[in-house]
Amino acid sequence: MLRDGAPTLVLTGAGVSAESGLATFRGSGGLWEGRDPMDIATPEAFTRDPVDVWRFYAWRRRQAAAARPNPGHVALAGLEAALPQFVLATQNVDGLHQRAGSRRVVELHGSLWTLRCTRDGRSSTDTSLDFPEFPPRCSCGAMLRPGVVWFGEMLPEEAMARAERAARTARVVIVAGTSSLVFPAAGLPAIARDGGAWIVEVNPEVTPLSPSASERLVGPSGTILPLLAAALGVASSPSCGTRRARSCGSTRAPARAATCSSGRWSISGFRCRS
Ligand code: APR
Repeated sequence: MLRDGAPTLVLTGAGVSAESGLATFRGSGGLWEGRDPMDIATPEAFTRDPVDVWRFYAWRRRQAAAARPNPGHVALAGLEAALPQFVLATQNVDGLHQRAGSRRVVELHGSLWTLRCTRDGRSSTDTSLDFPEFPPRCSCGAMLRPGVVWFGEMLPEEAMARAERAARTARVVIVAGTSSLVFPAAGLPAIARDGGAWIVEVNPEVTPLSPSASERLVGPSGTILPLLAAALGVASSPSCGTRRARSCGSTRAPARAATCSSGRWSISGFRCRS
């Protein structure tokens, strides 16, 4: 289906940035381990202690700035370049997809690199890593807040509408590096499945999505996504950019496709669980 240019939606989560050295949220070593997200990632927490919340987000900005896109990010940028109808919806706020070259990115949970004035709600891009004071202030004197979506907040309307539209029209959905626990993003694959889409999950672990996925590619996205891209003839080596292998003259061998027990192709070296 991908080879035929089928409309494709990719949904990513923190796991896609794990191989760039950024911690995921849940599980061992996750950002929420030993910490209640309600104390740091809610409007109430910000009202109670904006300095504490800001220290956490300033630290995450520094981590994200120091990180580099990994082969999984690069492969997705390559798929975007190769597929005419492609939308990448991400729950990640680190900006690594864009730094890898992805352009059609829908940021469902906002961005670490956006600041919002708490008085008039206006957003601005800001990539500074040091602030003269916490919380940083808008030119109007009001506090600025991180432009991310906190627990209990609505997702940006336009972003969610775009992602839902893509889910309704998708024939293929690749869900990579997310625990599929946080809604409404976690509900997108079900919307697509209701429309008959083929759902491929890329994750080393089982998630609540796994039983209903059409196919599971079990392993790290930094390995699996480049193989998937290569199987489609898309070069995803940073040395030759993110263009089709044909046009950049990559000598990289295409991934070997194999047929899994259910009769559907999978990528050699990974288990196919249908
Ligand atoms: N490749 C692919 N998946 C991986 C990798 C990897 N290298 N490493 C870990 N994973 C998987 C884990 O198995 C897990 O299923 O990534 C997933 C990460 O799950 P979460 O930490 O829950 O992250 P995410 O799904 O993005 O969380 C959703 O929750 O706290 C909020 O706003 C936050 O956007 C976040 C949302």
